[in-house]
Amino acid sequence: MEVWSYHIPTKVIFGKKSLEKITDVVESFKPNRIMLVTGRKSMKKLGVTDRIIDYLKNCRVVVYNKVEQNPDVSTVEKGIRFLKDEKCDLVIGLGGGSTIDTAKAVSVLSKNQRPVDEYLSGKRKIVDRGVPLIAIPTTAGTGTEVTQYASIIDETKKRKLSLSHEYIHPSIAIVDPTLTVTMPKFVTATTGLDALSQCIEAYWAKDHTPISDIYALNGIALIFNNLVNTFNHAENITFRGKMALAALFSGIAISITKTTIVHSVSYPLTTHFKISHGLACALTLPSFIRYNSKVVRQRICNIAQTIGAEDVEGLIRKTEGLISCLEVPKRLGEVGVQRTDIELIVSEGFRPDRAENNPRKVTKEDLKAILEGLL
Ligand SMILES: [Fe+2]
Repeated sequence: MEVWSYHIPTKVIFGKKSLEKITDVVESFKPNRIMLVTGRKSMKKLGVTDRIIDYLKNCRVVVYNKVEQNPDVSTVEKGIRFLKDEKCDLVIGLGGGSTIDTAKAVSVLSKNQRPVDEYLSGKRKIVDRGVPLIAIPTTAGTGTEVTQYASIIDETKKRKLSLSHEYIHPSIAIVDPTLTVTMPKFVTATTGLDALSQCIEAYWAKDHTPISDIYALNGIALIFNNLVNTFNHAENITFRGKMALAALFSGIAISITKTTIVHSVSYPLTTHFKISHGLACALTLPSFIRYNSKVVRQRICNIAQTIGAEDVEGLIRKTEGLISCLEVPKRLGEVGVQRTDIELIVSEGFRPDRAENNPRKVTKEDLKAILEGLL
C-alpha cells in the first residue's frame, strides 16, 4: 500500500450569508491594520467592498484594488510594498482566482525578503510563514480558497508561474454563495469548467489518494448536476451553493493531488492567446479523457458511472454536451489559435510537476496531434 498524507490547514466557513461571520473571524486575529485585496472595479461597484468595510467598522482597513485579470508579477510587488508601507498584519483576498492568488502571494512573500520572481521561478524557496490570510471567493471554480498554490503571470516573459508551498494555504476561507450570483454568464461557465477539469484531473492524477478521490467524484457529480442550471438561472442560490461546494471540493482535491496535463497545456493558451483559464482547460479536456482512457480506463469508467454515462465515449459526449450548453467555444480555431501557433503551445505546454503527474505519458507528437485535431 502506498503511503499518503492529508492535511488541509484552511478553516472553511461555508454557506449563505456566511460573509456576516467576518467580524468575529477578523476579531480572532486582533489585527492592527487589514489589507483588503480586490479587483479594480466590480466588488466596489457591487457594494461588497463597502459591506466588508462596514462589518469591520471597528478595525482599520486599507483597500488595495489594483488586481487585474491574470495578475502580473508587478502587481504582487506593488502589493507587498503597500502592505509594508501601511503596516498591515492581516490580508483579506476578495474576488475570483486572480485576486485571491495575488492576496496569497502578497501575504506570504511579504515575509520572505528576496525579489518576487526568485520565488516564482523556483530559484528560491519560501521559508517563512506569511501574514495571515482570509480568502473570500466571489466565483465558483478555482478552489484557490483552500489550496497551497498561487498563479501569477510574468508578462515580460509571457509565462504563467506558480507558487506552491504549505504556507500559502489561506488561514480561513469564507465561502458565501450569495457573493457569486452577480458573476457574468461567461465567468459562471468558465470557472465551473475549471472546477470540472480540476476534479477530473485530480481523479486520474498519479498522485491521487483515497481522500482526493472522494472530493473529486463528488465534485464531478455536483458540476454535471448543477452547472447548466446555474448558468441558466443565475440568481438561484441553491444552484450557486452547489457550484460553490463543487469548486471547494475541486480545490481540496488538487491540493492533495496537483493537476495534470490539461492544466499544464492551459498555461500557454492563457498567456499567449488571452483565453480565460477555465476555458483553456475545457478546450482540451475531452481529448485528454480519450487519451488517458488508454491507460486508466477503469478510473475513467468510474467517472462515467458517477454521472450516469455508460463508458468512456459516453463521458466524452456528456462533457462536450455540457460545454455546448454553456455557449463557450469548443475549438482552438474559434479562440484565435492557428496551425502556426501549435509549435509554441507544445514547447511551453509541459510543466514538469503537472505533465509528469498525468497517468499516461504525453509526448510532444501526441500533444501536437491533439491540438491540431482541435483547430
Ligand atoms: Fe484551475
